[in-house]
Amino acid sequence: MIRAATADDPLRIAVLASGRGSNLAALMERLDPTVVIVGVASNRADAIALSRAREEEIETAVFPRGDDWGERDRELCAWLLERDVELVVLAGFMEILTAEVVDRLPVINVHPSLLPAFPGLHAWEQALDAGVEETGVTVHFVDTGLDTGPVIAQEPVPVREGDTPASLHERIQAVEHRLLPDVVRRLASNDIPDSTRSAA
Ligand code: GRF
Repeated sequence: MIRAATADDPLRIAVLASGRGSNLAALMERLDPTVVIVGVASNRADAIALSRAREEEIETAVFPRGDDWGERDRELCAWLLERDVELVVLAGFMEILTAEVVDRLPVINVHPSLLPAFPGLHAWEQALDAGVEETGVTVHFVDTGLDTGPVIAQEPVPVREGDTPASLHERIQAVEHRLLPDVVRRLASNDIPDSTRSAA
């Protein structure tokens, strides 16, 4: 259960990101004082997201996967718990988390399609290849599957004639940058029923 936070006692979140971190930037810009980002972690030392966090003086850490996935996730989870993290936000974290993390903390993810359509990598390319007229963005609770777990919010994005992977991805990302901070704010204000999380 995610508690109702206030500006005096904000919800402590950590963001996990592997790449560019444009969603991290959107969170840093758009969250209100009821939420504080206490750490940013990555599986990659060269993730631009880490530099963005350091610029804002947010603590960072790197947890490469290595051979033992479970051990990596135990170390990651210990780092999160030491910082009293109450919600983990995956913002372009390109690996599946094991039960070591998802059974101990609430985790949400932003995905560039209307799940369950087009899970996995390059969902916008999958949408173009499938010839659909509409794709979108999903924010969902994370379980140990690939882009599975109860959906919290979805927003459609039309596919336009002449769209390239880059143009479609750009329009999808504009929606991500609004929807993800919005869901985090709603979770912090207890505006999302807890039953959403257990509804598989
Ligand atoms: C986003 O499209 C997100 O939906 C997906 O990975 C991408 C990360 O983008 N899971 P960025 O690193 O936040 O720019």
